[in-house]
Amino acid sequence: MMATPDLQTLRAAVALAARAPSIHNSQPWRWLHGTTSLHLYADAARLLPATDPDGRDLMLSCGAALHHLQVTMAASGWATHVHRLPNPNQPDHLAAVDFRPREPSRDDIALAAAIQRRRTDRRRYTSWPVPAELLADLARTAGTFGAVLMPTTEPDDRYQLVRALAEASTRQEADLAYAAELAAWAGRSPFVAEGVPATNIPAGERRHGDTTMRAFPNGQLTDPGDRWEDDAGELLVLATATDTTESRLRAGEPMSSVLLWATDFRMATCPLSQVLEVEATRDLVRDRVLDGFGVPQIVLRVGWAPVNTAPLPATPRRPIDDIFGRQGQ
Ligand SMILES: Cc1cc2nc3c(=O)[nH]c(=O)nc-3n(C[C@H](O)[C@H](O)[C@H](O)COP(=O)(O)O)c2cc1C
Repeated sequence: MMATPDLQTLRAAVALAARAPSIHNSQPWRWLHGTTSLHLYADAARLLPATDPDGRDLMLSCGAALHHLQVTMAASGWATHVHRLPNPNQPDHLAAVDFRPREPSRDDIALAAAIQRRRTDRRRYTSWPVPAELLADLARTAGTFGAVLMPTTEPDDRYQLVRALAEASTRQEADLAYAAELAAWAGRSPFVAEGVPATNIPAGERRHGDTTMRAFPNGQLTDPGDRWEDDAGELLVLATATDTTESRLRAGEPMSSVLLWATDFRMATCPLSQVLEVEATRDLVRDRVLDGFGVPQIVLRVGWAPVNTAPLPATPRRPIDDIFGRQGQ
């Protein structure tokens, strides 16, 4: 019989996969193991209806967890075979994962190490430019997943994108249900197992240069970015060819890979999804930034954090027993 990973290995891998980024740190996933396989389920009760009415962010978050799991298993000597959406009658069953032994590569180990270090960094970045070579590397990474990562380095693309970011913020903030949901999920104590802790939210400016960030409440993080220094953060648009549930799930995988490689390069990163949660601004990004080619799935801000910046605390996660169990129980 083919060797399979033992329960301890799976449990440890799921715990690391849970370090994946998720919308408002909602961690909308559940993993169940069978005798030889591991199954990812969406936890629909964790959908944020006012922020993410179509479940786009939920699906991206689960895709990121699926990629994190593959990275972790690869680093511990297991290649994965993933069957996405294996059961049409059960739309919450997002993936069935099988394993076979394989020697880890240096890249596998580097990526797994980046999982522990990655943080969503909402602070100002420095004026150091992000080299074109690094942006090209990140774009190549996305390309290996069949996705496109478009840097908005052309002034007109950047202008259209930042206008759409600002417009999406204004629209969402005018929505009382959105504000109530944000207040329930963000600006919380770091000891609560979910949501965005106040300690990870900058206390000051929510605009960095031309870029409007999501306005979270109760920020307690001092932002050491110097006011005199321009913020040279780059905005990258991750796009897929189609907009099915499967393409959203799949988009979470290159999103995760790009964030982890950027972390490996010592860059600061922050996903920005407001602009794609609002239909009107999503259309603007598709038509004016991507020129109608492809479906935008997430915007990633990348740059260099100031050298004098304290490391960001890790955000909390739900206990492993809440997200991991045996299939059929
Ligand atoms: C699909 C998705 C959308 C997100 N959108 C935003 C956003 O608009 N603004 C933001 O500051 N963070 C955003 N995040 C980051 C999450 O808030 C963050 O991953 C979560 O709080 C956990 O923190 P960590 O990434 O530092 O582990 C997003 C993450 C995902 C996966």
